[in-house]
Amino acid sequence: MSALSPVLDRVESQRDRYVTELLEFLRIPSVSADSRRKTEVERCARFVADKLQAAGLETRVFPTAGHPIVYGERLEAPGRPTVLVYGHYDVQPPDPLPLWKSDPFDPRIEGENVFARGAADDKGQVYTHVKAVEAYHHAGVPLPVNVKFLIEGEEEISSVHLDGFLRAERGRLACDHVVISDTDQFAPGIPAITYGLRGICYMEVHVIGPAKDLHSGSFGGTVANPANVLAALLASMKDPQGRVLLPGFYDDVRPVADWERAMWATLPFDESEYLALTGSPCLVGEAGRTTLERRWARPTLDVNGIFGGYEGEGSKTVIPSWAGAKVSMRLVPDQDPAKTATLFEKTLAERCPSGVRLRVIHHSGGKPVIVAADSPGIRASRRAIAKGFGREPVLIRTGGSIPVVGSFKEILGTDSLLLGWGRPDDNCHSPNEKFNLGDYQKAIRTSVLLLQELAEA
Ligand code: BES
Ligand code: MN
Ligand code: MN
Repeated sequence: MSALSPVLDRVESQRDRYVTELLEFLRIPSVSADSRRKTEVERCARFVADKLQAAGLETRVFPTAGHPIVYGERLEAPGRPTVLVYGHYDVQPPDPLPLWKSDPFDPRIEGENVFARGAADDKGQVYTHVKAVEAYHHAGVPLPVNVKFLIEGEEEISSVHLDGFLRAERGRLACDHVVISDTDQFAPGIPAITYGLRGICYMEVHVIGPAKDLHSGSFGGTVANPANVLAALLASMKDPQGRVLLPGFYDDVRPVADWERAMWATLPFDESEYLALTGSPCLVGEAGRTTLERRWARPTLDVNGIFGGYEGEGSKTVIPSWAGAKVSMRLVPDQDPAKTATLFEKTLAERCPSGVRLRVIHHSGGKPVIVAADSPGIRASRRAIAKGFGREPVLIRTGGSIPVVGSFKEILGTDSLLLGWGRPDDNCHSPNEKFNLGDYQKAIRTSVLLLQELAEA
């Protein structure tokens, strides 16, 4: 342990600079979904590459047909394991802007938190590992493992070009452990290791009717109304008990294992605190399932947006020419996104009445995963977190998706260690996203310790 003292001292002394640099990172509006931000996304990739370089890594920026992938490595621990750190420098769009208390790209520190888009998802989290490696470098202590960094700019648009890169660069990316900090702690002060992620199948459906918007008096009652048809189709997809009504949808759902159910029952889950996070009047969901099970281990079908027809001020009497909706299905092991997309499209086609035409667009897909909940890597992570955060982590699943985790397993054959530094109330993807700066500092320490623990794992 004493060999790490200079590194940990370095971490303590650099606290202010770590915060200043994070603010600089957060000022770059790297919104991957927004094509108008392309140069900002590129600038952000450059920022990450420069910081990796400064941390002593040999660094390259790989262009893709979309946003660049930043890669860095330092392979100076022969005979020791290789750890690949994955994260993303892209962020979600900040809208709706009026709900932010301050500019999403002008980070504001209030109390213990920094508020900005990307603060927790994922800039603040991924940057902890960059600073940990830098601390070894500055302290002149050799890294206990070989390290590789893969930081992409398309996670929030479902890692469109990453699988191709993984396949093409399999040799370069070979590793013993993947480390990802892009999830949450279980609750403030209760760190967590995540062993399960939901997958996703994201579809868009357009219902197309008359050639143009029609007078709803002159024509109403004689032609199909695409908005009504869309509403009926969407309503047909779920019953009032929350069950998805696509035939075959549940065929591949893996039941929750007994050990998981038993373990989840011991988690200090506060249902009313969770409800408060949502601001909803009450919790609803699939009958006969607990809230944790609904969030972590059951698939969903949700309309994310619905549009078409007259949406302006006052009333305008039209039968819209078309209407559309964006629908996401969160998947659990062993459901398959491609199979689910086909099922969705086929079911819509079967249920579509005459008088309209359907157009179905396949958006993102990502496989659900369960990684080993007990392995030398998990045990090493537990030890590092226990020391760095001063409390043993709990083991959890999460409802969110990180598409590349399945690909790491499939293409590189490596399980990921999902060590989340965020908090459930960080407002990821919502207005006023934040990240706790106390956790930020603890996480940098933890990452320093983790590299040592993984060396011995
Ligand atoms: N960091 C999240 C994943 C996440 C969400 C982990 C919630 C833990 C809790 C990631 O950046 C994310 O938002 N992923 C997207 C993937 C999608 C765009 C394919 C998601 O889950 O919506
Ligand atoms: Mn993320
Ligand atoms: Mn995200």
